[in-house]
Amino acid sequence: MSGNKNLTRAQFDEVMVPNYAPSAVIPVKGEGSRVWDQEGKEFIDFAGGIAVNCLGHCHPALTGALQEQGNKLWHLANVMTNEPALELATRLTSSTFAEKVYFANSGAEANEAALKLARRYALDKFGAEKDQIIAFDKAFHGRTFFTVSVGGQAAYSDGFGPKPQSITHLPFNDVAALEAAISDNTCAIMLEPLQGEGGIIDADPEFLKAVRSLADKHNALVIFDEVQTGVGRTGELFAYMSTDVVPDILTSAKALGGGFPIAAMLTTTEIAKHLKIGTHGSTYGGNPLACAVGNAVLEVVNNEETLAGVKQREQMFRDGLTKINDKYDVFSEVRGKGLLIGAVLNSKFEGRARDFLVASVGEGLMSLIAGANVVRFTPSLVIPEADIKEGLERFERAVAKVVAG
Ligand SMILES: Cc1ncc(COP(=O)(O)O)c(C=O)c1O
Repeated sequence: MSGNKNLTRAQFDEVMVPNYAPSAVIPVKGEGSRVWDQEGKEFIDFAGGIAVNCLGHCHPALTGALQEQGNKLWHLANVMTNEPALELATRLTSSTFAEKVYFANSGAEANEAALKLARRYALDKFGAEKDQIIAFDKAFHGRTFFTVSVGGQAAYSDGFGPKPQSITHLPFNDVAALEAAISDNTCAIMLEPLQGEGGIIDADPEFLKAVRSLADKHNALVIFDEVQTGVGRTGELFAYMSTDVVPDILTSAKALGGGFPIAAMLTTTEIAKHLKIGTHGSTYGGNPLACAVGNAVLEVVNNEETLAGVKQREQMFRDGLTKINDKYDVFSEVRGKGLLIGAVLNSKFEGRARDFLVASVGEGLMSLIAGANVVRFTPSLVIPEADIKEGLERFERAVAKVVAG
């Protein structure tokens, strides 16, 4: 299983825009939670493409769905609908609060649609003054100019000229700050129920309740960005399901296609009707190939056995990381929910998450970071126990190397 040796990492710097700095490893094949690079070196995958490969690599249900649809119908213009899209929208509405679905191709696009819908809804119902979007520090909502401006890291949105206006950023989980900032001019509050890129930071239940009640008081919409937390990641189909709060708009992407690009914005009929014919759209959104894969993903993920399995695997990760920490004293905390796990480095290793990631690659383990201080794991939701065990052994060796300097 060797790759094409004529294609090298060095070429990346020659032919690719330099917005990424990929590692030297070029994976060429994946199966379940194992991946092999051009040299045939094997890795255990605790990264899952950042919460995307929810069923690992080349899951037979997904390759089967892709092949079957690939031999039937790939694409249609949006002047016609298609069967896989209708099936997927029905699956999503029948398993959530939502009554209507808009399909897109990425998390950023689904969030862009959510924000535009919220603005349009407020404009139609309450007038032009009601345009304020409240969002939170460290939030990540994508890289289109609107979504990156709503995201809570100015470093990502600065340097591109004038930004979309009327966006207020507040500290996450701060009810008093929210009370002070919200008004009848607020059109929407957007948040991740568990911040991913920001460092695996859970929303407090009391904060979520305040978000909902203050939004209701001021006729603002609540948008949950479940791009990273959705589709079984936290052990529920969507993370909101284990809270007391139901959003007005929810976005999903990443795991929805298990590696095939697809995203969805979910909402109610009452809100959806404000995106009238011609107000928004996408060439590929609702593409039959992507929706066929999405249906196969939900078929496997949205059942009790898979979701219960996520919680069991979470426990294995927590136990394993605690043992490693007992031995090497590197983490101050292991946090997160389901298989969205953050191991927070203690003060001795502050800012060195990347060192752990690099050492892990050396030991044959793919992991992630969430900011400079958190090692993140978002493996397949069905990763075999044996792979968790062996992956944690590899991680322990990586930790030992970092500790030894
Ligand atoms: C919570 C959240 N929202 C949005 C996005 C953007 O998704 P995409 O990269 O598919 O545009 C991400 C990606 O990491 C995310 O974690």
